Amino acid sequence: TYVVTDNCIACKYTDCVEVCPVDCFYEGENMLVIHPDECIDCGVCEPECPADAIRPDTEPDMDKWVEFNRKYSESWPVIITKKDPLPEAEEMDGKPDKMELFSE
Ligand code: SF4
Ligand code: F3S
Repeated sequence: TYVVTDNCIACKYTDCVEVCPVDCFYEGENMLVIHPDECIDCGVCEPECPADAIRPDTEPDMDKWVEFNRKYSESWPVIITKKDPLPEAEEMDGKPDKMELFSE
């Protein structure tokens, strides 16, 4: 599966949702997640993210992100249409410690 990681927080560009063939992105207040059981591993979303926040779970230490994505994809609504990024997206791209900004 692919998963969304912390650099999505406070950016939420949403380019990713337009390309997913199975509509498995879910939207929180300032971040999206992927449902790991719905993702078919096609990989097309990864290069679409301007914040490089989408990673394959084959990279090291991704287990916590798979669990994180699963947890929130089960309670957040699906998102299938691109919208404007968050207003501070450009400024926030690449900032450290973004988990502190995460809001459910
Ligand atoms: Fe959707 Fe493919 Fe990205 Fe999985 S890898 S979230 S199926 S676009
Ligand atoms: Fe987030 Fe990147 Fe999608 S910033 S909303 S994972 S395009």
